Amino acid sequence: MFVCAILLLKLCIGSVSGAKILGAFFVPSISHQVVFQPIWKELSLRGHQVTVLTPNPLNDPTLTNLTEIDLGFAYDIIRRGNLQGAAQKNVPIESIVYFVYELFGGIVKAELEHPEVQALIRDQNKTFDLVMIEYMHPTFSALSARFKCPWVGITSLGALLPGHDSIGNPTHPILNPDILLPFTGNLGFNDRLFSVYYSIWFRYYYYYHVIPDQDKVVKKYIGEDLPYLGDIEKNISLLFVNVNPILHPIRPNVPTVIELGKMHIRPKKPLPKDLQQSLDKATEGVVYFSLGSNVRSANLSLELREKIMKGLSELPYKVLWKWEEDQLPNQPKNVITSKWFPQQDLLAHSNVKVFVTQGGLQSMEESISAGVPLVGIPFFGDQPLNCVKMVNLGIAQSVDTETLTPEILKKTIIEVAENSKYRKRVKEIRDLLSDVPATGLEKAVWWIEYVIRHKGASHLRSPAIDLPLYQYFLLDVIGLILLSIATSLFILYKIFKLFSNDKNYSFTTKYKIQ
Ligand SMILES: *[C@@H]1O[C@H](CO)[C@@H](O)[C@H](O)[C@H]1NC(C)=O
Ligand SMILES: *[C@@H]1O[C@H](CO)[C@@H](O)[C@H](O)[C@H]1NC(C)=O
Ligand SMILES: *[C@@H]1O[C@H](CO)[C@@H](O)[C@H](O)[C@H]1NC(C)=O
Ligand SMILES: *[C@@H]1O[C@H](CO)[C@@H](O)[C@H](O)[C@H]1NC(C)=O
Repeated sequence: MFVCAILLLKLCIGSVSGAKILGAFFVPSISHQVVFQPIWKELSLRGHQVTVLTPNPLNDPTLTNLTEIDLGFAYDIIRRGNLQGAAQKNVPIESIVYFVYELFGGIVKAELEHPEVQALIRDQNKTFDLVMIEYMHPTFSALSARFKCPWVGITSLGALLPGHDSIGNPTHPILNPDILLPFTGNLGFNDRLFSVYYSIWFRYYYYYHVIPDQDKVVKKYIGEDLPYLGDIEKNISLLFVNVNPILHPIRPNVPTVIELGKMHIRPKKPLPKDLQQSLDKATEGVVYFSLGSNVRSANLSLELREKIMKGLSELPYKVLWKWEEDQLPNQPKNVITSKWFPQQDLLAHSNVKVFVTQGGLQSMEESISAGVPLVGIPFFGDQPLNCVKMVNLGIAQSVDTETLTPEILKKTIIEVAENSKYRKRVKEIRDLLSDVPATGLEKAVWWIEYVIRHKGASHLRSPAIDLPLYQYFLLDVIGLILLSIATSLFILYKIFKLFSNDKNYSFTTKYKIQ
């Protein structure tokens, strides 16, 4: 009876198949897109009509409910932008933030100008039940206003400060500094001071420059009569972040923030034959070296590349290096290069001892899932923070590009390869990450359908979003308390003065009288 009722309930509640969903995932970076791909694929398999704007379409003809608009041209823009060159360590973080928003703004604008995207926006017959966007940039959220439907934000890493602001999530600058700052654990005084300054500066820049600028872009390319972008942004229903409290700092979340994780991890597939053989033969051990998709090994400074190459050449292991050119000049004997490796499957090979990585989140997750300890060489973005965290977890050592020497690199890799404590710890972390009630993908799909079923999630909206800043920071209350204290002190002072004057007075008068 009870079971029947539940089944019936499930049938009724579950009746959202065939919703129309629009996704806009703008960043031309495969490490971002692999996080989103399973979501749009799964939604289409569940019978929703899914339309997606992406630089990395799946192009899978069996997905008949999926329409993909290919924005692959955006890769040229990000390559020309040279993020790697702009985001060097010695560049102030404000300049990097500014650079990234300029770059992302240019990409978003170019994608909006794309004829197929314009045709979709201008098509008066198109309707959608939900818009989902990559929420590293606000502009595409205006599609929700255009199609008069709720929107959800998804990030392939953690959210930036404005993302937390729009959903009403707490952002304590000392407990939870922004993900672009390499701070974790207990901050020293200077770091605390900087984090406070940065969180004010970022908001000033974002709300007084980025949003007004992008509002103009929205009016031009999405619709003239739409509300202010800053208000659309606060209409967000859910924020999906690709972080979890095992690999990332513990933080409080409002109920509309959903933590995903391991989105792109899939069952192991067989390796190409030659790679399999070469790995089987390397019983001395294998080091896998890849700086991911956003940091190209081929674009490192010559000096750094030679130091790395010398360090790797002295290792007693075989090295697989993801090198993006045909030839590596002076390639050492123990090094094999390839423009691409099947990373997940390669890491699963038992001869792989260490993964040398830039510290990208997806690489980190793949290494942990395969039980392989890491050596981090962080460059920019969230990489420094990820590396600090990996070191603190005891699954990695990190090497700074500024101080890197062949000896340091060699010593660090051998330490991580030979000291069994790293491998043991990785396996513990792997077990913790797998011990969850639902996978990241299951959570994503369930919550997206939840928003469709209830036409938004305004019933879960945090009151913090609508609270004026002076109330949030208790300024009026603190002001009143300070005022009362000041008034009390003033009155006490006056009484004291009166009293002592009085005495004086009476003394002198007495004196005079005498
Ligand atoms: C497409 O959606 C329909 C329902 O709208 C569903 O029955 C079908 O299985 C879906 N097909 C694919 C290949 O996802
Ligand atoms: C990276 O290196 C390639 C050649 O190796 C070059 O064509 C390209 O312009 C470089 N890109 C950047 C951003 O420096
Ligand atoms: C919109 O729908 C109407 C009637 O259903 C049709 O005549 C018109 O051609 C459609 N417009 C577009 C752009 O598809
Ligand atoms: C916010 O969402 C509600 C419900 O979907 C809608 O009525 C309202 O116009 C939206 N406001 C803005 C500023 O987007």
